[in-house]
Amino acid sequence: MSHTRHLQDSIRYTFVRPIAEGGMGCVYEATQEGAHHFAKRVAIKLIREEYSNEPAFRKNFVGEAQLVADLIHNCIVQTYHLGRALDQYYMVMEYVDGMNLEEFILQHRALGEDIPVDLAAFIISRVCRGLAYAHRALDHRGNLLNIVHRDINPRNIMISIEGDVKVTDFGIAKAINLMYNVEGEILAGKDEYISPEGAAREITDERSDLFSCGVVLAELICGYNIFEVEGKPRETRRQITHMPLPDFQEIREGLSGELTNILTQSLQRNPSDRYQHADLMLNALEEALYSHGYGPTSEKLSLYIKHLFADGKAYDDDLRHGSKSFGLSISDPNNAFKKPTST
Ligand SMILES: Nc1ncnc2c1ncn2[C@@H]1O[C@H](COP(=O)(O)OP(=O)(O)OP(=O)(O)O)[C@@H](O)[C@H]1O
Ligand SMILES: [Mg+2]
Repeated sequence: MSHTRHLQDSIRYTFVRPIAEGGMGCVYEATQEGAHHFAKRVAIKLIREEYSNEPAFRKNFVGEAQLVADLIHNCIVQTYHLGRALDQYYMVMEYVDGMNLEEFILQHRALGEDIPVDLAAFIISRVCRGLAYAHRALDHRGNLLNIVHRDINPRNIMISIEGDVKVTDFGIAKAINLMYNVEGEILAGKDEYISPEGAAREITDERSDLFSCGVVLAELICGYNIFEVEGKPRETRRQITHMPLPDFQEIREGLSGELTNILTQSLQRNPSDRYQHADLMLNALEEALYSHGYGPTSEKLSLYIKHLFADGKAYDDDLRHGSKSFGLSISDPNNAFKKPTST
């Protein structure tokens, strides 16, 4: 039997449809093609050419992608591959058949319905579970990788139709921030979800992500982002650092004392007063969810979203299941990158 140390193959990806355009580039649903009609559904983020051609971004993005390459957890969208075709970087990821949390929130708004508090807590408990795993991830020598997400916000939290909750875009905010580190330029993370220390451009650690989890949890429970001043990022950041926290039980009638305490603790301005690790916030959420009996599960969330997005409801189904096929394909390594031939 012959032994080989390397296996070189050419992988071909065919784009099925664009899913959405973000700040970094466009995300596509695609198929990864193998031998004998093997085809695997994946998501591909094509990084904008202007970023791909920026040496500072390339260095940081590739470095960060390397850090998260081995994060394998049910609550994290897995990165399969970082590639480059004709000067454009792309990331191949696990495809999540579902929606992002912003779409979930918007659907409730469109229907005039509140998000059930137990499902809100369940979703954030899953986010904390993914974060707890990433925050304590080690390199192959056993050293802490010090991974901090820095951009926890509803668009980076996916919910699959099976009811799984997954965090995406680890490391990307840091790569962008390292490229624009001049005062007044882009900050890592969206203004309305950023931690006070992030807004002040101080060093951030895992506790910064937990503040952002608190902001998202508050939004799910209250129905709006408590800090956001629309269209005014500077004022929003000031609210993040100075605004007295609202009375959550007044905003959401019947909210338990336990969940109120979790919101208050995660939203402390001083990181030392917050949960110190994602595990601790996860434990608090699970205790609130399950110590009184049978609490939410992925199956319950799955049933809930199927009902929420059932036929005839306000959500634009094309957003998720549009089947427009693009004649765009990339192959790796070294093959031609073809621009779309039809739309
Ligand atoms: N692995 C995936 N599977 C399915 N859909 C995904 C996946 N990753 C991202 N998406 C969808 O693509 C959208 C765009 O993602 P992208 O990260 O490019 O931008 P964003 O998070 O919306 O905003 P930002 O510009 O701040 O990154 C997401 O909001 C999500 O709905
Ligand atoms: Mg994103």
